[in-house]
Amino acid sequence: AFTPRVFSGIQPSGRLTLGNYLGALKRFVDIQNEGKYECVYCLVDLHAITVWQEPNKLRDNTRELAAFFIAAGIDPEKSILFNQSQVPAHAQLAWIFNTVARMGWMGRMTQWKDKAGKNSENASLGLFAYPALMAADILLYHATHVPVGDDQKQHLELTRDVAAKFNHDYGVDFFPITEPVIKGPATRVMSLRDGTKKMSKSDPSDMSRINMSDDADTLAQKFRKARTDPEPLPGTYAELKDRPSARNLVDIFAALSERSHDDVIAEVEGMQWGTFKPLLADLAVEKLSPISGEMKRLMADPAEIDRILGRGAERADAIASPILQKTYDLVGM
Ligand code: ADP
Ligand code: NA
Repeated sequence: AFTPRVFSGIQPSGRLTLGNYLGALKRFVDIQNEGKYECVYCLVDLHAITVWQEPNKLRDNTRELAAFFIAAGIDPEKSILFNQSQVPAHAQLAWIFNTVARMGWMGRMTQWKDKAGKNSENASLGLFAYPALMAADILLYHATHVPVGDDQKQHLELTRDVAAKFNHDYGVDFFPITEPVIKGPATRVMSLRDGTKKMSKSDPSDMSRINMSDDADTLAQKFRKARTDPEPLPGTYAELKDRPSARNLVDIFAALSERSHDDVIAEVEGMQWGTFKPLLADLAVEKLSPISGEMKRLMADPAEIDRILGRGAERADAIASPILQKTYDLVGM
């Protein structure tokens, strides 16, 4: 009974990585172009401020992220592209969900444990409540599907729990039980320095990640220095099972070239890393530099970016407002 609709978001918290591109944005573009879903894509600035953001930096990062979406292929006429804080219903529904979600659910989130660390007394209340806001983002549009990287799986389960508890408590069938869509050859892009850790903008070593803003020489250097192991490339993908750093490079190659793992392995079987890495670097330059070039061009006109986001917020609000009003009504407000 629900319209097939996709929602997903990325935080404007600076530095966009190849993980954000392959795990999230590239797939948002593919889904948009498939044409099977109405697509709602959000720059989640309310999420970003759960850890400190310098105000002027946040403003710049928000525009840069919008430019990234558009440069990567999101068409703001086809998809709805907007900034979270411009649609007040996100914060309003999040408050309702703060009363639905349980403390215990939040305390079990591994991202909370990782980000708050041992000093959780000093973490913001917003960081703890983050998954309830994320549930609001998704359910405010009655989104049926959410494409995300593997790291967001647990938060998606919590979104489903919130929807189910709300429906149960109020005796309705109002919110959909949203499906996560975790697919593709690189749902989890790993650090170039340690294949057991996720590639992240917060890793202290810049050599561990590919930034969308890296130039061709930097890309080549980072891939050349990427950690591997002494063995050459194997004859089957399954043989990479216990070779996380090696497997990561094959995953990245497959995702960038839009080919299957098996297809890539068939081509590079037996190759030494000294031969494979330059191929990977060339592929990355070919696929990523048009995006960073287009981002620079778009960033030169911030007023135009603001106009696009303003229009996106109006379109988002037109879906969100009636759903918020109906929620208030069900709650007795
Ligand atoms: P980050 O996780 O880098 O702080 P976000 O929380 O804004 O950034 O994540 C935006 C999207 O990018 C999410 O869908 C997330 O799953 C995806 N993502 C981030 N890092 C990776 C990664 N290393 N591999 C795959 N997907 C990732
Ligand atoms: Na994340």
